[in-house]
Amino acid sequence: MQNQPFTIALSGKGGTGKTTISSLLIRSFIDLGETPVLAVDADPNANLHEALGVPVHETLGSMREEAFTRHIPPGMNRHDYVRFRFRQALVEASGFDLVAMGRPEGSGCYCFANDLLSECMLQLEREYRFIVIDAEAGMEHISRGTLGKPDMLLIVSDPGARGLRTISRIREIATQLGLEPDRIHIIFNRFKSGTAPVDFGKDTPIAVIPDDPQVEAADLAATPVSQIPADSPARVAVLDLAHKIRRIATEHN
Ligand SMILES: Nc1ncnc2c1ncn2[C@@H]1O[C@H](COP(=O)(O)OP(=O)(O)O)[C@@H](O)[C@H]1O
Ligand SMILES: [Mg+2]
Repeated sequence: MQNQPFTIALSGKGGTGKTTISSLLIRSFIDLGETPVLAVDADPNANLHEALGVPVHETLGSMREEAFTRHIPPGMNRHDYVRFRFRQALVEASGFDLVAMGRPEGSGCYCFANDLLSECMLQLEREYRFIVIDAEAGMEHISRGTLGKPDMLLIVSDPGARGLRTISRIREIATQLGLEPDRIHIIFNRFKSGTAPVDFGKDTPIAVIPDDPQVEAADLAATPVSQIPADSPARVAVLDLAHKIRRIATEHN
């Protein structure tokens, strides 16, 4: 019997490093042989594909709009057409596939479309070991049900007092979505060595990712951040995180 995939969503304020860490996490699972991975870009300002170095031709949002306004090819019903387009929207790469969700909602009622999308997503999920969702703070795709409830939520934050406030806000949203507290973890990103240790309080982080000049260099050169050298500090820290997640996923299954 095939194991269920283990789904990890990353949330956090804009600019905290969700996309960077998502792509490094995907890279790490591939390095650990945990393939295939499904990368889900659930941030409307989709750029996970850039971090992973693959092109995206369309998002599920734009596909949904089209599938309901366009003529369906003869011999196909709308269900079949959506499934067909869904397959087309899936980017297949080495070790991972990627799907970009796009905007959660267009004009009019899309309940039927959303149901279909969730159904397509469910069918997809069976094929993957890990699913990594690059989400935004509000986690709209999860609250609307297009994406199922994740097995683990990682809240990415900067390691300062301001970050802590956002963490509690996201925790609240997560609780409303029915996530149990022990499934929610904090990641502190861009930790600068030499700075005073932050008082983590009860929020002991599952990972502390160092501020890494290689990440910045990749950003400046517009090269995929997931391809920074294997020994660069952020990548090493995220690989360690991937090991932890794998252990948790094994206990979970
Ligand atoms: N550990 C890190 N070290 C250095 N720069 C980082 C690190 N993490 C993220 N960044 C930089 O911070 C910016 C925002 O990161 P990004 O992953 O796009 O955040 P988000 O997806 O949360 O909006 C980017 O310019 C990225 O290169
Ligand atoms: Mg992002």
